[in-house]
Amino acid sequence: MSRCQIISLPDLTKARNRQDGASIKYDEAVYSEALKQFANGRKYLVKTFGCQGNVRDEEIISGYLEKAGFTKTSDEKEANLVIINTCAVRENAEDKVYGEIGKFKGNTKADKNFILGVCGCMMQEEKKAESLIKTYPFIKLIFGTHNIADLPSMLDRIISSGHGLVDVISYPGDVIENLPSIRLDPYKAFVNISYGCDKFCTYCIVPYTRGRERSRPLQSILDECRKLVEDGYQEITLLGQNVNSYGKDFHDGTNFATVLEEVAKLGIPRLRFTTSHPWDFSLDMLDVIAKYPNIMKCIHLPVQSGSTAVLRQMGRRYTREQYLELVKAIRERMPGCAITTDIIVGFPNETEEQFAETLTLCEEVKYDAAFTFIYSPRAGTPAAKMVDNVSDEVKHERFNRLLKVVEAGVIYHSSQMVGKVYDVLVDGPSKKNEDILCGYTESNKLVNFPGPSYLKGHIVKVKIVEDHAFSMLGELQDDPVEVLLKSAKGKLAKEPAYIEYLAAKKAYEEDAELQANLKAKEAAQKALALSMGTDEYDAKKAAFAALSELVENNPNYINLVSATADLRALFVEMKAILQ
Ligand code: 5AD
Ligand code: SF4
Repeated sequence: MSRCQIISLPDLTKARNRQDGASIKYDEAVYSEALKQFANGRKYLVKTFGCQGNVRDEEIISGYLEKAGFTKTSDEKEANLVIINTCAVRENAEDKVYGEIGKFKGNTKADKNFILGVCGCMMQEEKKAESLIKTYPFIKLIFGTHNIADLPSMLDRIISSGHGLVDVISYPGDVIENLPSIRLDPYKAFVNISYGCDKFCTYCIVPYTRGRERSRPLQSILDECRKLVEDGYQEITLLGQNVNSYGKDFHDGTNFATVLEEVAKLGIPRLRFTTSHPWDFSLDMLDVIAKYPNIMKCIHLPVQSGSTAVLRQMGRRYTREQYLELVKAIRERMPGCAITTDIIVGFPNETEEQFAETLTLCEEVKYDAAFTFIYSPRAGTPAAKMVDNVSDEVKHERFNRLLKVVEAGVIYHSSQMVGKVYDVLVDGPSKKNEDILCGYTESNKLVNFPGPSYLKGHIVKVKIVEDHAFSMLGELQDDPVEVLLKSAKGKLAKEPAYIEYLAAKKAYEEDAELQANLKAKEAAQKALALSMGTDEYDAKKAAFAALSELVENNPNYINLVSATADLRALFVEMKAILQ
């Protein structure tokens, strides 16, 4: 018998509700003394499955936990609090979660106060929470996608009562701003622009697990992005289940083109966005993408199927021809733009002819990359109720045929890269070899190349020398030391100590009286040296001392001396970072 107190459980009927008018709220989490005491000295670990939206949620969960006083660990055995952040989009994503939960049974034995929490999209599905606490009675906390901001208070209740807690709410959803977060990467950041989805594609569980589509205020997005630029981030990816419908809920004409353009203008070196829905993709959005060099020419444009009949059954709202028109429009405006996609194979009753249309569409588009999935029925979605006449065997066989066609497109693009030079944002040394760096091109192609680890976070020129289809081997074209010095110069220019030094130096140089006194002091010093051993010595010494005093008491002189000392301290700090 589980010792979990059930506060609320998900309800798909409520989750389907799409009443308009999400409210904007601000994070008001309270961290009780009991929670702070408990957190002190304890370590947490968050394990995330699924999409970038879940990765961003992990950063926010980490933000709450660190504000409470927990510290992060990557060692599963030493973790005192583990949160498993789940995905519900396909059954195999869920299967992984069960294995993951089982792994932490040992922690419960080693630490009687160990807390295992499970959250995310899977918890928003009906019956999942009840079945989990029955099978794994050591789970202490279950919450959903809508109440992450309640994490401190839920933990407080668990600590003070000694009982577990299940609290999963189903409602259309609001927008919460000012969320705490610990970003997982120091150079690449995800920024949510909208939450939820109103498209209700017939196979998809997301509109139920993530609620109605609600856009963040433009100003909040810009404030978050501006801060990232100031902090030296090199890449921002704007996130939404359907970024192209951003702003529709404002009913004031704000759209995705506006947010994309405003963020691009902030000067982030690389700007990406995902995921796009072809139905909401307008030509003015394409114009903005084409106009700004810092918006990466790489569009993830899920097609799902190449058959208009299947697309209709999927509720995708576009035909094969309309999709191909959009691809044409992208390539006309931006000839080198990479296009990637998602494809579902084996949608209920998909015929061989319909599947063949997906193959011909892939042959025609020649995607730079494609994520391919076998259809997975999701309870509560319309497609899950369809009687399906396609066997698993046929679905797998089609999946393998699709992979081959997709691979041909990938190879078509990768083979053309050999011998050319690309900008690569360096992620750091590769996992397999410390001396090999890895990073991504504008088109999101993975490149491995030899280089020093201090290039992490820099955008460098790399010549592609070998094509391995899904990754490339390259040679660094830039002088690594020069890259480092250039970026150090850029960083130095933003340092307050350096800015103050430049201002003090300018005032020093422009102070005519001070400059005259400095010259006179120099002449007096010479005269003093020449008068050594003569009767004039004392008089010359007094003249020099008087001029020295004048100079040393000048405020612009004093300012420059202290600004120079501050700058020296900054250099010592920078040296320590480089070492
Ligand atoms: N079965 C298989 N794939 C799915 N996707 C979404 N729902 C399902 C499902 N029920 C795929 C779509 C989507 C991607 C994120 O996951 O291709 O674009
Ligand atoms: Fe799911 Fe369709 Fe919404 Fe994408 S657009 S999240 S596939 S319902």
